[in-house]
Amino acid sequence: MSAPDKLHIPVLLNEVLAALSPKDGGVYVDGTFGAGGYAVAILEAANCKVIGIDRDPKAIALASDLQKKYGERLVLINARFSQMAEVVSGKVDGVALDLGVSSMQIDNAERGFSFQKDGALDMRMSGEGMTAADVVNTLPEAELADIIYKYGQERFSRKVAAAIAARRKDMPFTSTLDLAGVVATVVPRAKDGIHPATRTFQALRIYVNDELGELQKGLAAGAALLKPSGRLAVVSFHSLEDGIVKAFMQEKAGKVPAASRYMPVKNEPLAQDFRLLNKKPLLPGDEEVRLNPRSRSAKLRVLEKKEEASE
Ligand SMILES: C[S@@+](CC[C@H](N)C(=O)[O-])C[C@H]1O[C@@H](n2cnc3c(N)ncnc32)[C@H](O)[C@@H]1O
Repeated sequence: MSAPDKLHIPVLLNEVLAALSPKDGGVYVDGTFGAGGYAVAILEAANCKVIGIDRDPKAIALASDLQKKYGERLVLINARFSQMAEVVSGKVDGVALDLGVSSMQIDNAERGFSFQKDGALDMRMSGEGMTAADVVNTLPEAELADIIYKYGQERFSRKVAAAIAARRKDMPFTSTLDLAGVVATVVPRAKDGIHPATRTFQALRIYVNDELGELQKGLAAGAALLKPSGRLAVVSFHSLEDGIVKAFMQEKAGKVPAASRYMPVKNEPLAQDFRLLNKKPLLPGDEEVRLNPRSRSAKLRVLEKKEEASE
C-alpha cells in the first residue's frame, strides 16, 4: 500500500509521553494507532513493547515499515479499542487513546469524512456496517434530527433533517459535497467562518462509528488492563468526548459516586484504586496550535492506578 502524502501529526505528543513515561521492559497499548506517532515515540523512549490497535485496516496496513523496524517490540492488531480486553493478554503499564479520525482518513476524499473535497458519503473507519449515506437515506426524519442534535450539537437539527428528508425523496445522497450543499441551504454561515455542515458531519461520523459507545467501553477496558502505577492517557477533541472521559476518570478516582450501578449510600467510602494525575486537563500550547491547528481543541486527561492497588 502506498503512503499518503501527509501523515498525521501527533497531538500533545510530549504530554502523552510524559504521562506514560515509558520504561525498559514495559508494555504499552496504543489503542488508536493511526500513523503510529505515539507508538513510535514510546518505542524510542525505552526498550519496551507497544501493542498498537486500530479499527481501520488501512492504518495497520500502512505500518508495515514500522513493523519491520521494531520487530517483536511492536504488535499490531486490527480491532476496536472496546475489544482491548479480548485482544490484549496480561496487564500493561500504560494505555493511550487519541480519539477521532486521523489526517490520513480526513484527507482521503473517498473515505467521506470531509466536505472540503467531493467523495463517497461513507465515514466508516472500519469499513463495516452502515455508511453515512445509508444513515441519511434511510433513517426516519425525527431520528435523523435527534442524531444531528445530540452528536453534532446543531441547533438547526430539525431544519437539517427536514431538508435531507425532502431531498432524498427525489434522489438519494451519495456524495459529501451534495450533502454539505443541502445542509448549507438551511444552516446560516457562522461568523467564525465554520462551514455550515461541520456539526452535521461530526454527528454522522460519531453515529456511524458509534464513537461514544466505543469510548465508554474503551475507557473501562483500558483502566481494567492497568498494572499498579499504570496510566491511562486520553486525548479528546470535543466536549461530548471530554465529558465522558472526565466523568469516567472522576468516578474511578472516587471524586464522584458511581452512578446507576446500585442505590448510592450516603458518604459511602469508594474503592479508590485510581487517582487523577492532574486536576485540570492538559491543553496544547500556542506553538503547537500554530504548527498544527487540528490540536486546538485537544484535551489530555490521565488516570493512574495507584501503586498500592491490587493487580
Ligand atoms: C487521531 S488518530 C490517532 C493518531 C495517532 N495517535 C498518531 O499519532 O498517528 C485516531 C485513530 O484511531 C482510530 N480509531 C478511532 N476509533 C477507534 C476505535 N474505537 N478503536 C480502534 N481504533 C479507533 C482511527 O481509525 C484513527 O486511525
